[in-house]
Amino acid sequence: MRKVKITVVGAGNVGSVIANTIALRGYADICLIDVVGEMAKGKSLDISQECGILGSDSRVVGGDDYRLSEGSDIFVITAGIARKPGMKREDLIETNAKIVKEVTQNVLPYSPNAIAIVVTNPVDTMSYLVYKVSKMNKNNVIGMGGVLDTARFKYYIKQKVNCSFSSINALVLGGHGDEMVPIVSLSTVGGKHLREVLSEKEIQEIVDKTRNGGAEIVNLLKTSSAYYAPGMSVVKMIESIIFDKKEILPCSVLCEGEYGIDGIFFGLPVKLGINGVEEIVEIPISEYERELLKKSVESVRNSHKLLEDLRII
Ligand code: LAC
Repeated sequence: MRKVKITVVGAGNVGSVIANTIALRGYADICLIDVVGEMAKGKSLDISQECGILGSDSRVVGGDDYRLSEGSDIFVITAGIARKPGMKREDLIETNAKIVKEVTQNVLPYSPNAIAIVVTNPVDTMSYLVYKVSKMNKNNVIGMGGVLDTARFKYYIKQKVNCSFSSINALVLGGHGDEMVPIVSLSTVGGKHLREVLSEKEIQEIVDKTRNGGAEIVNLLKTSSAYYAPGMSVVKMIESIIFDKKEILPCSVLCEGEYGIDGIFFGLPVKLGINGVEEIVEIPISEYERELLKKSVESVRNSHKLLEDLRII
């Protein structure tokens, strides 16, 4: 047996949170890659020394040389630029598509059987790009969006109902963009339906805040987007995969007819296990929510088309 190896490409804020959290938990070795090789190396040394304080034996390496990533079980792509105040995630396509394409071509030869987790925005379209460029099995390319959006939805519910996160069941589906769909019809607090504990007005406020959750943080941080919750969302996905937990989490995956959606990467409930995407789970959302998802599908599809317009794929 050997330790799991995880490569994180992009040693910025999100990449650092992922590398640091996994190193602290100690169950995997980590490779941190960045075009700014010395920064990746510096952070890998810092995390390695921190491991000594905590008693973690994760090996952490870093630099700009993709050979360091050889034999990874999972690679996470966080490379690219983040939103500035006033920008939509879609505004990043042109710059980030070039970066993500290059990263995919660089990392794949060293870890041809790895599972890819994509974080770079707009994440549904970047996941589609990785899938197209790599020709990987569709079950092995997964975008992070829904876990984060769901965390935000739960947070705003918690603010209103004043109870533990662990008593709140909620879910956000759809693209990781302004048209994401918090699934109110299946959300519960201590087993009670959300509509029994909150008014329609309060629920609408929560939905709006959830959709705006990323932008709210960008506006406060000004030079960066969120990173603690995004990083931890990736860690949750990684742990479901490597420990074969088979958690059902909202992730961006290639749709082939599920929920009536075809040919795009889109946020749906997915069983994540050792084989990556093991199932796209159909849950009984309302007709109204199905209609809302269609809007999100259109916007994700348009964003995917831009990759062709820009001749990236
Ligand atoms: C956010 C970025 C990661 O929602 O898309 O904070």
